[in-house]
Amino acid sequence: MAVAHVIDDEQELIDAIHELAVERVAPRAAEIDHTGQFPWDMQELLAQQDILAMPFPTEYGGLGSTELAVVMAIEELSRYCATTGLLLAVHQLGAMPILLAGNEEQKRKYITRLASGEWMAAFGLTEAGSGSDAAGMKTIGVRKGDKYIINGAKRFITNGGLAQVNSVFVNTNPALGTRGVSAFIIEKDFPGFSVGRIEEKMGIKGSQTAELIFTDCEVPVENMLGREGEGFKIAMATLDRTRIGIGAQAVGIAQGALDLAVSYSKERIQFGKPIAENQGIQFMLADMATKVEASRLLVYNAAEMVDRQDKNFSKYSAMAKMFASDSAMAVTNDAIQILGGYGYMKEYPAERMMRDAKITQIYEGTNQIQRLVIARELLR
Ligand code: CAA
Repeated sequence: MAVAHVIDDEQELIDAIHELAVERVAPRAAEIDHTGQFPWDMQELLAQQDILAMPFPTEYGGLGSTELAVVMAIEELSRYCATTGLLLAVHQLGAMPILLAGNEEQKRKYITRLASGEWMAAFGLTEAGSGSDAAGMKTIGVRKGDKYIINGAKRFITNGGLAQVNSVFVNTNPALGTRGVSAFIIEKDFPGFSVGRIEEKMGIKGSQTAELIFTDCEVPVENMLGREGEGFKIAMATLDRTRIGIGAQAVGIAQGALDLAVSYSKERIQFGKPIAENQGIQFMLADMATKVEASRLLVYNAAEMVDRQDKNFSKYSAMAKMFASDSAMAVTNDAIQILGGYGYMKEYPAERMMRDAKITQIYEGTNQIQRLVIARELLR
């Protein structure tokens, strides 16, 4: 790795995660993609190895890792299996609203169980009719005594139906627009919570993507995060933070595709010599490697801004996610081209990597939304 600003003990952890990814994660990747089954063994492995504890403060049982170490971990896992890398990224995403806006009691109750890996987390913002326009949500909450009664549905929720802890954004005062949105921690077994359709996807196949349905769902008032009306800002602040992890997932996928293209091009003999001896292939590899490295630097830079509490990281987080995911799409596509017919077949992982890369341009804010965030910042 070109940049490794992590302190020594964290570098050891990243090296250990690399070993674990090579030995335990890589051999499972094709099967996870093929069966589309949620990889409970990978979830347990990350919990046992305390990798799921990385994003959480030590006072709640976490490792208190830097953001840089968290994104490096996501990258290492995604290099071999994007679905496994996503387990850590979504764990952080679902928990982030609690970390950012939760009170002490909420953190003690939920973060401790997330840090130990006992519980999983999910983030419920998107709806069937509101994706990029997050404020267009129709899920509503009405206060009745010491509860909010919530009605509506959330769509495309990663870990949906598996997560015990759901950070869900609900309109509690539609007249106020974005200022009418409130955030709640909704447990899977609260009355009125159910799981709807489970999506069939192009990539990240082992990850469960589900619809969450709320039918007069009863949520105690103490499960509100922050104050009424603060939900939209909590959602935006969460995504600013966690988009860096999606950038890291993209870097990992792209690095995996580059590794494959390099090794294949040295072995594949055509016209009596390895195809790597052709300048046409060499130039492709050089461009791919440069895209991977530039993406990595943007991702690490945004993570380090978070670590040094630089408040202006939002634009850089959007740049990192956007550039890394666009690059991952280009690099995986080129890897398929270098592998030729073999790249198009399921026998090699190149086509899986391209399918997995595609989602990184879409989730946690499409790359069009990232460009909007960057441009707004520039023109402010
Ligand atoms: N941090 C804090 N506050 C913010 C903010 C930020 N980054 N961005 C906006 N706000 C505040 C604004 O200051 C404003 O506050 P005031 O009312 O006090 O003025 C308020 O929020 C409303 O802001 P906007 O007027 O900018 O809102 P908008 O309706 O124009 O939307 C948007 C802005 C950036 C387009 C937003 O809708 C957005 O980010 N959309 C994309 C949503 C998204 O990323 N979805 C991904 C879903 S999660 C997922 O994919 C996860 C998964 O499964 C893995």
